[in-house]
Amino acid sequence: MRTFRTLDKKSDRTAFITQKFEETFGGPPTFVASAPGRVNLIGEHTDYNDGYVFPVAIDKYLNVAARKRSDRHVTLYALDVGDSWEFCLDTLSAIPPQAPAWSHYLIGVASLLQASGREIAGIDAVITGDVPIGAGLSSSAALSVAATFAFLTAGSEPETGESEAEKKDLAALCQRVEHEFAGVKCGIMDQTISLLGQENHALFLDCRSLEYEHVPLNLTEHAIAICNTKIKRELAASEYNKRRAECEKGVDILSQWIPGISSLRDIALTDFKKHEEELPALTQKRCRYVIEENARVLDAVSVLKGRSQSTSDNTNESLTQFGNLMNASHNGLRDDYEVSCKELDLLTDIARSTSGVIGSRMTGAGFGGCTVSIVHQDALEMFQTRITMEYHKQTGIEPEIYLCNVSDGAQVFRLF
Ligand code: GLA
Repeated sequence: MRTFRTLDKKSDRTAFITQKFEETFGGPPTFVASAPGRVNLIGEHTDYNDGYVFPVAIDKYLNVAARKRSDRHVTLYALDVGDSWEFCLDTLSAIPPQAPAWSHYLIGVASLLQASGREIAGIDAVITGDVPIGAGLSSSAALSVAATFAFLTAGSEPETGESEAEKKDLAALCQRVEHEFAGVKCGIMDQTISLLGQENHALFLDCRSLEYEHVPLNLTEHAIAICNTKIKRELAASEYNKRRAECEKGVDILSQWIPGISSLRDIALTDFKKHEEELPALTQKRCRYVIEENARVLDAVSVLKGRSQSTSDNTNESLTQFGNLMNASHNGLRDDYEVSCKELDLLTDIARSTSGVIGSRMTGAGFGGCTVSIVHQDALEMFQTRITMEYHKQTGIEPEIYLCNVSDGAQVFRLF
């Protein structure tokens, strides 16, 4: 059985990468920029519909150890893929065709930071992390965010990312990197949680206004367990963009009947039901899911807040309600939004049939990647055994299980 529990000390994030930096560049780095991955508890595919999300940052990080150079050159070594890439900050107009996919994020970040008028500097850098790549835990957003902090720290903006307003700005910049340099028309959730995460709190984010609230989780008796199907999201980029287009089409058609709407966020379920027949069948399913999911996020946040304020014994009942909303979210993603896959469904089925599991759903864009479950501490061992054995029996794949702590957002560790 493979279970992964990571540690969150500064030394865990700096010691190994410092050594690798020294081996690569023959001297120490001056800082490590570190950005977490995330798991979304509820509110999937709602961010690009101006809706609500409820993610947590996890104690799995993408780290960039760096040292400023005196010229405008950038030399990168991506340890986990054993690959390197170099570029010059003065000639960033187009990505060369032979540039490896991971380097697009760094080129994108450097290019947009400069275009925004920020002063950045050349760096030598080593990149490594423990956010599983392509598993729906936002490794690419973590890479963009860590790279942003690295370029700004080396440049003339060493106090980088200190204010809330700046973090929101940087989240939007990293989102543009995904749109313009990776071809995914993603929403704002992943970058925002990687920057604004708070230990033991989930982020209730309104993706239209970008107003947010850190909601305490108080999961003393329960754990957040992430299970990786090990199925990579090959289809994800193209299907993701198609879902987004379907939602926009839905708004376009429904705006003839419901005036003043500009996104699915603006439509109440009762209004949708009055007019849903106007939509083609597929668009109807997609829109229904998003409208219901937004309502589920609001309910989930309210039960969790009620729970953390309560001194009575209704707290577990609230958690059960939260779990039921997670289950309903997965069912909608599977049946109406159609972004699940048989492996994700299998993992959620195994989880839900294990006693002590409060709720379980796919998380992230879908088509593979991970599920997230809330599991009672006493049931954790049984949960891990059942997931590992049953999933392996039915797929031949050994899943990975990560028991994560809820972490703070991106930080820079100065070493000298
Ligand atoms: C990906 C995107 C996010 C969000 C999720 C689905 O992670 O990057 O913006 O849309 O999928 O909720």
